[in-house]
Amino acid sequence: MALLEVREVTVEYRRPRRPPVRAVAGVDLGVDRGQIVGLVGESGCGKSTLARAIVGLLPCASGSVTLDGRAVRPLGRGARPVADRSLQMIFQDPYASLNPRRRVWRQLADGVPRDDRRDARDRSAELLTAVGLSPDAGDRYPHEFSGGQRQRIAIARALAAEPSVIVADEAVSALDASTQAQVANLLVDLARGRGLGLLFISHDLSVVRHMADSVSVMYLGRIVESAPTGALWSQPLHPYSEALIQAVPGLGPGAQPPTGLPGEVGDPARPPAGCRFHPRCPYSHERCLVEDPAAVTIVPRRRAACWLQPAGGPPRPLDEVAPAEVSS
Ligand SMILES: Nc1ncnc2c1ncn2[C@@H]1O[C@H](COP(=O)(O)OP(=O)(O)O)[C@@H](O)[C@H]1O
Ligand SMILES: [Mg+2]
Repeated sequence: MALLEVREVTVEYRRPRRPPVRAVAGVDLGVDRGQIVGLVGESGCGKSTLARAIVGLLPCASGSVTLDGRAVRPLGRGARPVADRSLQMIFQDPYASLNPRRRVWRQLADGVPRDDRRDARDRSAELLTAVGLSPDAGDRYPHEFSGGQRQRIAIARALAAEPSVIVADEAVSALDASTQAQVANLLVDLARGRGLGLLFISHDLSVVRHMADSVSVMYLGRIVESAPTGALWSQPLHPYSEALIQAVPGLGPGAQPPTGLPGEVGDPARPPAGCRFHPRCPYSHERCLVEDPAAVTIVPRRRAACWLQPAGGPPRPLDEVAPAEVSS
């Protein structure tokens, strides 16, 4: 069993007088110690909803989340933001976890487990050093830092709790490209150095590609493919993964222009019948319109939910599949 184990998780948003929106529909995911798992998909796929359910900020309608074999409990209103200290979350906007009116060292001290408060200032200096900031940065306020530095403080804040898993939701997406790479590298070093599990969520596959050991690709509430990063990148098995890779600008050996992806992620309140990706899929055929493919293991460590990819393999390279008329 993985350190963080997500099993068949479904998350729904309730709406008055209408059926709930099922933004996450039966997701499986695992993160081990020292492992970096990327979660990618376009905006609106359900990544943040899943992240919030994992850390206990949203209740799961069904399924389970366990950390080291223990259930992560959903929170009631007004409860502390993270259910379990050993599961910490970093957001796109560091202000979401930092208080603008308190000095940094005090906020880091707040995160330190109570039995370890003796030398809060020393501990905060240690944490700031661990994230590449000067130890005396603790005397300042969050607004005195750049966006990248603030994100480092948010990371230090998460580390203060001595977590075993960090869920980073678009944690570098608001930063400029070079700062993105630096903060991403910091997260990689911390995961490797401290044996932390890292679930790194991004709409940008090109960022995830350089840091994750494995990647799960999410589409309209489902994981449509999961694979070791290199394998996914060199031979995607799901047409949606292929489309995401093709959408990365300035890509690869063929140096073809990104084809992009026609259309938009659908509405989880009214998902398409059959395969949820079929309205946008260049390979969709009749079966895809009516039957929803389950995620199955194609080869060890590779799963996909696509009628083109039979359980047990062999994997079918998509560049050998002739595109069909796009159905809608
Ligand atoms: N509070 C909410 N109430 C109803 N629907 C929501 C709410 N938050 C998000 N959604 C819907 O859930 C889906 C997934 O959203 P989200 O988890 O934010 O995706 P992502 O993080 O991948 O962009 C979207 O269709 C979004 O409109
Ligand atoms: Mg999001």
